[in-house]
Amino acid sequence: MTRPAVVVTRRLPDTVESALAERFDVRFNGDDHPMSPGELRAALREADALLCTVTDSLTADVLDIESCRARIVANFGVGYNHIDMEAARCLGLVVTNTPDVLTDDTADLAIALMLAVARRMGEGERQLRAGDWTGWRPTHLMGTRVTGKTLGIVGFGRIGQAVAHRARSGFGMSVLFASRSPAADEVVAATAAAAGAEHRPLDALLAEADFVSLHVPATPATYHLIDARRLRMMQRHAFLINTARGDVVDEVALIDALQAGTIAGAGLDVYHQEPSVPEALMALSTVVLLPHLGSATMESRTAMGMRAVENLVMFFEGREVPHVVG
Ligand code: DGY
Repeated sequence: MTRPAVVVTRRLPDTVESALAERFDVRFNGDDHPMSPGELRAALREADALLCTVTDSLTADVLDIESCRARIVANFGVGYNHIDMEAARCLGLVVTNTPDVLTDDTADLAIALMLAVARRMGEGERQLRAGDWTGWRPTHLMGTRVTGKTLGIVGFGRIGQAVAHRARSGFGMSVLFASRSPAADEVVAATAAAAGAEHRPLDALLAEADFVSLHVPATPATYHLIDARRLRMMQRHAFLINTARGDVVDEVALIDALQAGTIAGAGLDVYHQEPSVPEALMALSTVVLLPHLGSATMESRTAMGMRAVENLVMFFEGREVPHVVG
């Protein structure tokens, strides 16, 4: 029996590539280059499935093809804002993602960024490596205490809740959250109570929090959710943490706020035009910048890959596919 043909857009952990090779007729991306729009189109025309990642832009233009052999796009990642869902639907493509398995690692990284920016870890490491550290002194690189402060979580899904849990149990923080679901919603209320978090409207949360951490997906409704007006609502001593998506923050307004010192700093893992990061951000000592590492552990990346494999296997066996989105 012929096996379904699957094109995999990027290199994946060995265990995942082996699992794919056992079950499918797979074309791997040997040199791990980012695939061009033309290569993505060709893959959709020639294979039964595309296993893509969060950096493969499946725009309406890329999905504007006359003959599409592929029937499923198994996305390696929980966010799927890089896929034009309407165009995918028109081609009859099933789209899946990989939720849950990256929750803990992404939450850990949000906490790491909060600590790193508040405690000036980036500055300290750069100073030491440059040979500019002249020794311990009482006024050297004094930062801001995290323990006991107020954390405002924007978006209270799986990752937002995991951050709340860590902040409360590990750092004794008071946790506020703003969620798109109405606060009266029983499920949100029960989850919030369990996490020891209190609901606030977004603008009130921004005004009250010492740290604001973003955990909403990128959708038209969250595009520039944190804009110049909302940045002005934050306290001068507050820090913004973004491990969600670059589009959620107006990056130009953020740079203005940081340059003017109307907020104290930012810890960023995601950007508008990845992998390009504005020079103006790089020039600021009050930001910690990471290259989209939220789920980057061997454990998460392997589990994400196995989840994508599971989605493909279930689809081609004609069974209910567990993580269909859209
Ligand atoms: C996702 O899964 O959406 C993440 O951004 C990848 O780390």
